[in-house]
Amino acid sequence: MRKPFIAGNWKMNTNSATAVALAAGLVKELESVETVDVAVCPPFVYLQSVAAALSASNIAMGAQDVYFEGNGAFTGEISCEMLKDCSCSYVILGHSERRHVIGETDELINKKLKAAIAGGLMPIFCVGELLEERDGGKTMEVVESQVRKGLEGLCEERIQAVTIAYEPVWAIGTGRTATPEQAQEVHAMIRGLLEKMFDKTIAESLRIQYGGSAKPGNTAELMAQPDVDGLLVGGASLKVDDFAQMVKTVA
Ligand code: PGA
Repeated sequence: MRKPFIAGNWKMNTNSATAVALAAGLVKELESVETVDVAVCPPFVYLQSVAAALSASNIAMGAQDVYFEGNGAFTGEISCEMLKDCSCSYVILGHSERRHVIGETDELINKKLKAAIAGGLMPIFCVGELLEERDGGKTMEVVESQVRKGLEGLCEERIQAVTIAYEPVWAIGTGRTATPEQAQEVHAMIRGLLEKMFDKTIAESLRIQYGGSAKPGNTAELMAQPDVDGLLVGGASLKVDDFAQMVKTVA
Protein backbone atom coordinates (compact mmCIF):
# COMPACT_ATOMS: atom_id res chain seq x y z
CA MET A 1 0.00 0.00 0.00
CA ARG A 2 1.30 3.43 -0.94
CA LYS A 3 0.77 6.03 1.77
CA PRO A 4 -0.82 9.16 0.28
CA PHE A 5 1.50 12.16 0.07
CA ILE A 6 0.23 15.73 -0.19
CA ALA A 7 2.81 18.48 -0.69
CA GLY A 8 2.33 22.24 -0.86
CA ASN A 9 4.49 24.20 -3.27
CA TRP A 10 4.42 27.78 -2.04
CA LYS A 11 6.43 28.99 -5.07
CA MET A 12 7.59 32.64 -4.83
CA ASN A 13 4.87 33.60 -2.34
CA THR A 14 4.56 34.55 1.35
CA ASN A 15 6.78 36.82 3.46
CA SER A 16 8.51 36.19 6.78
CA ALA A 17 5.30 36.69 8.76
CA THR A 18 2.80 34.95 6.47
CA ALA A 19 5.07 31.94 5.90
CA VAL A 20 5.28 31.26 9.62
CA ALA A 21 1.56 31.91 10.10
CA LEU A 22 0.70 29.47 7.29
CA ALA A 23 2.95 26.79 8.77
CA ALA A 24 1.61 27.33 12.29
CA GLY A 25 -1.98 27.22 11.04
CA LEU A 26 -1.36 23.89 9.30
CA VAL A 27 0.30 22.40 12.38
CA LYS A 28 -2.82 23.21 14.38
CA GLU A 29 -5.26 21.92 11.77
CA LEU A 30 -3.41 18.73 10.91
CA GLU A 31 -2.29 17.66 14.38
CA SER A 32 -4.18 14.40 14.36
CA VAL A 33 -3.51 13.33 10.75
CA GLU A 34 -1.37 10.20 10.61
CA THR A 35 -2.50 8.38 7.50
CA VAL A 36 -1.18 10.96 5.01
CA ASP A 37 2.37 12.23 4.54
CA VAL A 38 2.28 16.03 4.40
CA ALA A 39 5.03 18.45 3.37
CA VAL A 40 5.29 22.16 2.63
CA CYS A 41 7.90 23.76 0.37
CA PRO A 42 8.49 27.41 1.28
CA PRO A 43 10.91 29.80 -0.45
CA PHE A 44 14.56 29.25 0.57
CA VAL A 45 14.76 32.36 2.73
CA TYR A 46 11.93 31.21 5.02
CA LEU A 47 13.04 27.58 5.45
CA GLN A 48 14.52 28.08 8.89
CA SER A 49 11.62 30.02 10.35
CA VAL A 50 9.09 27.59 8.85
CA ALA A 51 11.14 24.67 10.22
CA ALA A 52 10.84 26.20 13.69
CA ALA A 53 7.07 26.54 13.27
CA LEU A 54 6.81 22.90 12.13
CA SER A 55 9.06 21.44 14.83
CA ALA A 56 7.42 18.61 16.78
CA SER A 57 4.68 18.36 14.14
CA ASN A 58 4.00 15.61 11.61
CA ILE A 59 4.48 18.04 8.69
CA ALA A 60 7.73 17.71 6.76
CA MET A 61 9.46 20.42 4.78
CA GLY A 62 10.95 20.57 1.32
CA ALA A 63 12.77 23.12 -0.82
CA GLN A 64 11.71 24.16 -4.32
CA ASP A 65 15.06 23.48 -6.00
CA VAL A 66 18.69 22.59 -5.28
CA TYR A 67 22.01 22.77 -7.13
CA PHE A 68 23.98 19.61 -7.90
CA GLU A 69 27.41 20.79 -6.74
CA GLY A 70 28.44 20.38 -3.12
CA ASN A 71 29.85 23.85 -2.47
CA GLY A 72 32.04 26.51 -4.01
CA ALA A 73 31.82 29.32 -6.52
CA PHE A 74 28.20 28.98 -7.69
CA THR A 75 26.75 32.40 -6.98
CA GLY A 76 23.10 32.33 -6.03
CA GLU A 77 22.84 28.55 -5.73
CA ILE A 78 21.94 26.39 -2.72
CA SER A 79 23.42 22.95 -1.92
CA CYS A 80 21.85 19.76 -0.59
CA GLU A 81 23.86 20.09 2.57
CA MET A 82 22.48 23.58 3.18
CA LEU A 83 18.94 22.30 2.73
CA LYS A 84 19.56 19.40 5.12
CA ASP A 85 21.04 21.89 7.56
CA CYS A 86 17.74 23.83 7.37
CA SER A 87 15.73 20.66 8.17
CA CYS A 88 14.51 19.90 4.64
CA SER A 89 13.56 16.30 3.88
CA TYR A 90 12.26 16.85 0.35
CA VAL A 91 13.18 18.91 -2.69
CA ILE A 92 11.03 19.67 -5.74
CA LEU A 93 12.99 19.11 -8.97
CA GLY A 94 12.10 19.65 -12.60
CA HIS A 95 9.06 21.79 -11.87
CA SER A 96 7.53 23.11 -15.09
CA GLU A 97 8.27 26.67 -14.09
CA ARG A 98 11.95 25.78 -13.81
CA ARG A 99 11.85 23.86 -17.08
CA HIS A 100 9.91 26.44 -19.09
CA VAL A 101 10.52 29.81 -17.37
CA ILE A 102 14.10 29.32 -16.15
CA GLY A 103 15.10 26.94 -18.95
CA GLU A 104 16.27 23.84 -17.05
CA THR A 105 17.04 20.80 -19.22
CA ASP A 106 16.43 17.11 -18.59
CA GLU A 107 20.20 16.68 -18.21
CA LEU A 108 20.45 19.34 -15.49
CA ILE A 109 17.43 17.92 -13.67
CA ASN A 110 19.00 14.43 -13.79
CA LYS A 111 22.20 15.80 -12.19
CA LYS A 112 20.16 17.53 -9.49
CA LEU A 113 18.16 14.34 -8.80
CA LYS A 114 21.30 12.29 -8.33
CA ALA A 115 22.90 14.91 -6.12
CA ALA A 116 19.74 15.30 -4.02
CA ILE A 117 19.44 11.57 -3.34
CA ALA A 118 23.15 11.21 -2.62
CA GLY A 119 22.78 14.17 -0.26
CA GLY A 120 19.96 12.54 1.68
CA LEU A 121 17.04 14.49 0.24
CA MET A 122 13.88 12.93 -1.20
CA PRO A 123 13.12 14.48 -4.61
CA ILE A 124 9.62 15.30 -5.82
CA PHE A 125 10.40 14.94 -9.51
CA CYS A 126 7.96 16.81 -11.77
CA VAL A 127 7.05 15.95 -15.34
CA GLY A 128 4.27 17.14 -17.62
CA GLU A 129 3.34 18.17 -21.14
CA LEU A 130 2.58 21.62 -22.58
CA LEU A 131 -0.85 22.38 -23.99
CA GLU A 132 0.38 22.19 -27.59
CA GLU A 133 1.96 18.81 -26.84
CA ARG A 134 -1.34 17.48 -25.44
CA ASP A 135 -3.28 18.90 -28.37
CA GLY A 136 -0.76 17.37 -30.75
CA GLY A 137 -1.26 13.92 -29.20
CA LYS A 138 2.27 13.90 -27.77
CA THR A 139 1.51 13.66 -24.03
CA MET A 140 2.73 10.11 -23.47
CA GLU A 141 5.84 10.61 -25.59
CA VAL A 142 6.83 13.82 -23.78
CA VAL A 143 6.20 12.46 -20.28
CA GLU A 144 7.98 9.17 -21.04
CA SER A 145 11.01 11.05 -22.31
CA GLN A 146 11.10 13.32 -19.23
CA VAL A 147 10.85 10.33 -16.88
CA ARG A 148 13.53 8.34 -18.72
CA LYS A 149 15.99 11.24 -18.94
CA GLY A 150 15.31 12.50 -15.41
CA LEU A 151 15.82 9.10 -13.80
CA GLU A 152 18.66 7.97 -16.05
CA GLY A 153 21.47 6.21 -14.21
CA LEU A 154 19.63 5.88 -10.90
CA CYS A 155 20.06 2.46 -9.33
CA GLU A 156 17.17 0.56 -7.78
CA GLU A 157 18.24 1.51 -4.30
CA ARG A 158 18.36 5.23 -5.10
CA ILE A 159 15.03 5.40 -6.91
CA GLN A 160 13.17 4.50 -3.68
CA ALA A 161 13.69 8.09 -2.44
CA VAL A 162 11.78 9.58 -5.38
CA THR A 163 8.17 10.75 -5.64
CA ILE A 164 7.05 11.55 -9.18
CA ALA A 165 4.63 14.43 -9.75
CA TYR A 166 2.66 14.47 -12.99
CA GLU A 167 1.78 18.10 -13.64
CA PRO A 168 0.29 18.90 -17.03
CA VAL A 169 1.62 22.40 -17.71
CA TRP A 170 -1.73 23.60 -19.07
CA ALA A 171 -3.33 22.81 -15.70
CA ILE A 172 -0.84 24.64 -13.48
CA GLY A 173 -2.23 27.83 -12.01
CA THR A 174 -4.86 28.01 -14.73
CA GLY A 175 -7.86 26.70 -12.83
CA ARG A 176 -8.14 24.06 -15.56
CA THR A 177 -7.60 20.70 -13.82
CA ALA A 178 -6.95 17.49 -15.72
CA THR A 179 -9.93 15.19 -15.45
CA PRO A 180 -9.39 12.26 -13.09
CA GLU A 181 -9.33 10.01 -16.18
CA GLN A 182 -6.67 12.13 -17.90
CA ALA A 183 -4.54 12.02 -14.75
CA GLN A 184 -5.02 8.26 -14.29
CA GLU A 185 -4.08 7.53 -17.90
CA VAL A 186 -0.71 9.25 -17.57
CA HIS A 187 -0.06 7.94 -14.04
CA ALA A 188 -0.67 4.38 -15.24
CA MET A 189 1.73 4.92 -18.15
CA ILE A 190 4.40 6.22 -15.74
CA ARG A 191 3.95 3.22 -13.45
CA GLY A 192 4.28 0.86 -16.40
CA LEU A 193 7.41 2.68 -17.48
CA LEU A 194 8.90 2.37 -13.98
CA GLU A 195 8.33 -1.37 -14.17
CA LYS A 196 10.22 -1.49 -17.48
CA MET A 197 13.04 0.73 -16.22
CA PHE A 198 13.35 -0.87 -12.76
CA ASP A 199 11.02 -3.66 -11.62
CA LYS A 200 7.47 -4.37 -10.50
CA THR A 201 8.17 -3.92 -6.79
CA ILE A 202 9.60 -0.46 -7.39
CA ALA A 203 6.81 0.48 -9.80
CA GLU A 204 4.23 -0.51 -7.21
CA SER A 205 5.91 1.23 -4.32
CA LEU A 206 6.76 4.63 -5.86
CA ARG A 207 4.25 7.37 -5.26
CA ILE A 208 2.96 9.43 -8.17
CA GLN A 209 1.36 12.75 -7.27
CA TYR A 210 -0.91 14.77 -9.52
CA GLY A 211 -0.45 18.54 -9.70
CA GLY A 212 -2.25 21.31 -11.58
CA SER A 213 -5.12 23.29 -10.07
CA ALA A 214 -5.72 20.66 -7.40
CA LYS A 215 -8.11 22.10 -4.82
CA PRO A 216 -10.54 20.98 -2.11
CA GLY A 217 -13.34 20.47 -4.63
CA ASN A 218 -11.48 18.01 -6.87
CA THR A 219 -9.30 16.23 -4.29
CA ALA A 220 -11.58 13.25 -3.71
CA GLU A 221 -12.14 12.45 -7.38
CA LEU A 222 -8.46 12.74 -8.27
CA MET A 223 -7.40 10.64 -5.28
CA ALA A 224 -10.01 7.99 -6.14
CA GLN A 225 -7.92 7.02 -9.18
CA PRO A 226 -5.88 3.86 -8.54
CA ASP A 227 -2.54 5.35 -9.63
CA VAL A 228 -2.94 8.82 -8.09
CA ASP A 229 -1.09 8.59 -4.76
CA GLY A 230 -1.07 12.20 -3.75
CA LEU A 231 -1.12 15.81 -4.85
CA LEU A 232 1.40 18.58 -5.43
CA VAL A 233 -0.57 21.71 -4.64
CA GLY A 234 0.33 25.26 -5.63
CA GLY A 235 -2.30 27.98 -5.21
CA ALA A 236 -4.51 26.08 -2.77
CA SER A 237 -1.53 25.36 -0.49
CA LEU A 238 -1.30 29.06 0.39
CA LYS A 239 -4.53 28.96 2.36
CA VAL A 240 -4.59 27.03 5.65
CA ASP A 241 -8.25 26.07 5.26
CA ASP A 242 -7.97 24.82 1.69
CA PHE A 243 -4.78 22.83 2.15
CA ALA A 244 -5.93 21.38 5.49
CA GLN A 245 -9.25 20.41 3.95
CA MET A 246 -7.47 18.61 1.11
CA VAL A 247 -5.31 16.64 3.53
CA LYS A 248 -8.33 15.76 5.68
CA THR A 249 -10.29 14.64 2.63
CA VAL A 250 -7.49 12.22 1.79
CA ALA A 251 -7.07 11.10 5.42
P1 PGA B 1 -1.32 24.97 -8.92
O1 PGA B 1 0.25 24.62 -9.00
O2 PGA B 1 -1.91 24.03 -7.88
O3 PGA B 1 -1.38 26.40 -8.49
O4 PGA B 1 -1.89 24.72 -10.27
C1 PGA B 1 0.70 23.31 -8.92
C2 PGA B 1 2.19 23.26 -9.06
O5 PGA B 1 2.75 24.01 -9.86
O6 PGA B 1 2.87 22.47 -8.39
